[in-house]
Amino acid sequence: MLSWDDEAAAAPRANPAMMGATAEASAEQVALRVNADDKRVINGQTDVNQLVPFKYKWAWDKYLAGCANHWMPQEVNMQRDIELWKNPNGLSEDERRLVKRNLGFFVTADSLAANNIVLGTYRHITAPECRQYLLRQAFEEAIHTHAYQYIVESLGLDEQEIFNAYNEVASIRDKDQFLIPFINVLTNPSFKTGTLETDQQLLKSLIVFACLMEGLFFYVGFTQILALGRQNKMMGAAEQYQYILRDESMHCNFGIDLINTIKLENPQLWTPAFKEEIKGLFLQAVELEYRYAEDTMPRGVLGLNAAMFKGYLRFIANRRATQIGLETLFDQDENPFPWMSEMIDLKKERNFFETRVTEYQTGGALSWD
Ligand SMILES: [Fe+2]
Ligand SMILES: [Fe+2]
Repeated sequence: MLSWDDEAAAAPRANPAMMGATAEASAEQVALRVNADDKRVINGQTDVNQLVPFKYKWAWDKYLAGCANHWMPQEVNMQRDIELWKNPNGLSEDERRLVKRNLGFFVTADSLAANNIVLGTYRHITAPECRQYLLRQAFEEAIHTHAYQYIVESLGLDEQEIFNAYNEVASIRDKDQFLIPFINVLTNPSFKTGTLETDQQLLKSLIVFACLMEGLFFYVGFTQILALGRQNKMMGAAEQYQYILRDESMHCNFGIDLINTIKLENPQLWTPAFKEEIKGLFLQAVELEYRYAEDTMPRGVLGLNAAMFKGYLRFIANRRATQIGLETLFDQDENPFPWMSEMIDLKKERNFFETRVTEYQTGGALSWD
């Protein structure tokens, strides 16, 4: 048990009657203290170094939920996956292609996501509660890249082939090339918000990232690996993907809350022309993800085929569109993979903590020797 003796407890406490103007703070300084009502998600003028007083409680709650879901890739046993992969009769050629193409997208996707947050989004967000979540999210993206690398290493795949897929495989490259301009806008050192044009550019990049990358481009890949897991194949990889899916659905929800709060605080950004542009990007993303589905599954595999994904992608795109206040884009009310929503909603915490093998070195393990 971590203990700091009783010194802290014995220290004199501030007298509540002395709060407000004190020997340390003049009345003018007290008047300058952060008022929660003055905070803004973008273009705010309040001190970003002061987390409290809270205004955006939803962001803080997501930060706490992200921390409560903490996991590490090495906690997942990959032994059965390794045996299955090494067994010449373990998986079909189509299943192997699917796994390799799948990892080919994901091994670099989460580095794009992390760099987008750290070098781009973070500095343009002026609400410290939102920044606090973005810091957690950035670390989760590092864990995801670690998880994909860990799977590649466990299976003994050709690292060069997998990590270069985003340059060399057209269906993966096209998705990344769609995204990269929206990252580059935010990471450009001369980019500053504060005009209608730049605020719209920021909002557009946030929408592309939350709704189309984390909220759409990940879903063919997640569905494929979880479908393998449902057939008792690649169970370790499927377990990792399930934790990643849980993190990503929170990233996506945080992004949507962020977008909607910016819209609420800056209604002038949401013009008819802007909405049309966003709709066009949604349609383009659905098309790119569908081509990726075709490329990863040239024939039916695992009871899945590319055509089923057309319906699924339309279903998800409709959902993302309505979540940010756009009308639905497709005539598709039904989810062809209802089991996927169970996976997303599944509260894995209990199972996860029952099976975990590692104890984090916090609290009781701390030693000053
Ligand atoms: Fe991620
Ligand atoms: Fe993410």
